[in-house]
Amino acid sequence: MATTHIKQDGTTPSKTLDRGYPPGPPAVGTNSLAQLRFGLRVTSDPLNVMLGWFKQYGDIVHLQFGEKAHVYFLAHPDDFHTVLVEKADQFHKAGSYKDEKRGLARILGNGLVTSDGDYWQQQRKLIQPALHARRIEAYAEEMVRLTQYMLQSWQDGQTIDVNHAMMGLTLAIVAKTILDTDINSDAEKIAEAVTVFQQLAFGVDIFPLWLPTPSHLKQRRVEKAMNEVVTALVTQRRKATEDRGDLLSMLLNSTDEAGQGMSDQQIRDEIVTLFLAGHETTANALSWTWYLLAQHPAVEQKLHAELDDVLQGKPLTLADLKKLPYAEQVLQESMRLYPPVWNMSRQALADVEIGEYIIPKGSEVNLNTYAMHHDPRWWNEPERFLPERFHPDRQTTAPKMAYLPFSTGPRVCIGNSFAMMEARLILATLAGRYRLTLSDGYQLQMEPLIALRPRGGLQMTLQER
Ligand code: HEM
Repeated sequence: MATTHIKQDGTTPSKTLDRGYPPGPPAVGTNSLAQLRFGLRVTSDPLNVMLGWFKQYGDIVHLQFGEKAHVYFLAHPDDFHTVLVEKADQFHKAGSYKDEKRGLARILGNGLVTSDGDYWQQQRKLIQPALHARRIEAYAEEMVRLTQYMLQSWQDGQTIDVNHAMMGLTLAIVAKTILDTDINSDAEKIAEAVTVFQQLAFGVDIFPLWLPTPSHLKQRRVEKAMNEVVTALVTQRRKATEDRGDLLSMLLNSTDEAGQGMSDQQIRDEIVTLFLAGHETTANALSWTWYLLAQHPAVEQKLHAELDDVLQGKPLTLADLKKLPYAEQVLQESMRLYPPVWNMSRQALADVEIGEYIIPKGSEVNLNTYAMHHDPRWWNEPERFLPERFHPDRQTTAPKMAYLPFSTGPRVCIGNSFAMMEARLILATLAGRYRLTLSDGYQLQMEPLIALRPRGGLQMTLQER
């Protein structure tokens, strides 16, 4: 695919004839103080720093870190296609996913999000059937039931942290549907561990991990608490021996070609991975949607009109979803403006040609979905919330690859259909009963960790409709 690397202001960055490195910020020296200073600047606001680089340097930004590490930042749809589809076999997971001490791998181990190669392929094949579009239809009723259960605790006029509420709900849903488990009081332990480890993966910590700093002690505590929850779940199920037909039973009963079953550690890693990947992204997508609806009364009214027409006071069913196209467009547009997975990292396994450059083997490549979703070359008035962009009859100006909330290629989100069904059911059930409003003068800040979250939660007031 041909890539024209132009800056967002329309000019072309200077090219090196010998295909040297793309433009980018000055190299960060080997000196640890320089690295720390740079790290603090970037991690305090990684998304805005990267957006600034794309504006200044164009669609491929290069950063040399220390003597040997080359890091690339990409924002062009053609380059997403190269890395995720065309040359996907030349990349492995990298960056914040892989670091076993401070990255996601510390909490997820070698589960589906962090693993690579043959092992990843084998695990993907094993897990895929549990999340297949037809299979998940059976989960719809449970999703609505758990949403209605949460609604019982909601009261007109109450102010709640909507992000926290969405996290609790989506975690309960993933636990019940995929693992046939009621997590109840354990939900807090899992949610806390997920937050602490994301902050760790995106923060700067100058102290060695063995040092008992308050932050390290907290990490150890939440890690232990979460491992206890998951270990108890696996032990209890191993003892019970019955096959409940859910994903956990499938994992426990699976064997590889040599007839070897999965170890407790492997099962633990897949469960924690599904807990994390399966709840936090959907919860954030919904939180951003409530935030946007509160600021766009015309969109909210159109959504309410669609819901009232279909629901007429009855509980929502799976069959109703196809009668709610606008609800789907609202969610799609919300994930364009606030893609829950705003950045994806890969490592080049060989020298790889991307656009007009050769990316050396071992480089880290970061695909910035947020930048691509806000690029005026693909999206008219990119900062406006216009769900109608996703109306099927609407001629879109955006290339197919310019909208990738669930990624694409072999590592496309395995829970894509699950998430879209769940988000539509939750949105429709809650918006059928309540409006969620923001307090005057509320200033939202984004917190770009592994997932893009509202910083400090999202306080909103419930208004019964
Ligand atoms: C709105 C909700 C969701 C969004 C936006 C989302 C987005 C993504 C994205 C962008 C990736 C690719 C990451 C990368 O390759 O670097 C991914 C992978 C993944 N997602 Fe989702 N996801 C969502 C919901 C879910 C749900 C509900 C589940 C499970 C029930 C799930 C499970 C996974 C897993 C296991 C992977 C790794 C797949 C692999 O590498 O083979 N996700 N997701």
